[in-house]
Amino acid sequence: RPLVIAVDGPSGSGKSSVSREVARRLGLEYLDTGAMYRAATWSVVESGIDLADAPAVAGHVAGFDLTMATDPSAPGAWVAGHDVNAAIRETRISTIVSKVATNLDVRANMLKRQRDLIAAAAAGPHAGVVAEGRDITTVVAPDADVRILLTASEAARLARRAKELHGTADAASVEATRDQIVRRDSDDSTVSNFEVAADGVLHLDSSALDFEQTVDAVLTAIAR
Ligand code: CDP
Repeated sequence: RPLVIAVDGPSGSGKSSVSREVARRLGLEYLDTGAMYRAATWSVVESGIDLADAPAVAGHVAGFDLTMATDPSAPGAWVAGHDVNAAIRETRISTIVSKVATNLDVRANMLKRQRDLIAAAAAGPHAGVVAEGRDITTVVAPDADVRILLTASEAARLARRAKELHGTADAASVEATRDQIVRRDSDDSTVSNFEVAADGVLHLDSSALDFEQTVDAVLTAIAR
């Protein structure tokens, strides 16, 4: 029976790196839904659409050509055959992605794409998928076999993201990161509540855990 594992969490909770490693260890596919919203945002920007024009943004997203690679050893996103994997991580995308992701028509379109990708992975040769994002446990795959909300204290999340973006978690790097992360989480929380675990969702706080320990905790939860 194919296994569907849903992982949600805020920025810097470790959900992407942990989900990817769990998928790799279990031989499952890996779906990064944040990358899909980032790719949609990249495509909107690329086409010159005014971000404030919500119907135009939704109209564009409804038709844009997105391909997701779900191999956890080489995951990625392509827009009309264009490799966008570096571009979608740039600050110019990170600072505006919430604007696109809080557009409800955009979310309806993404929901359909995400469910199709999860169904394809579940039907494929890899016996399942780990899908991660903000609303996977609640909206995209509420019937997943295992549902986990991965959180961490704001201090832990800021330190991790500062290390990723600046190579260090000194005070200046943490401050530079705070603006991006805390504001984006607050923008995102207008559409999904990813701070509190929904009914039946296992809440895992990784504040005091390192990467390996967090991977182990998720694997233990899945084995149960
Ligand atoms: O930087 P981080 O890993 O937290 O973000 P991400 O997973 O790459 O997601 C980027 C953005 O996509 C989020 O800030 C949300 O605006 C949006 N997103 C969403 O709305 N729903 C999801 N299931 C996943 C991401």
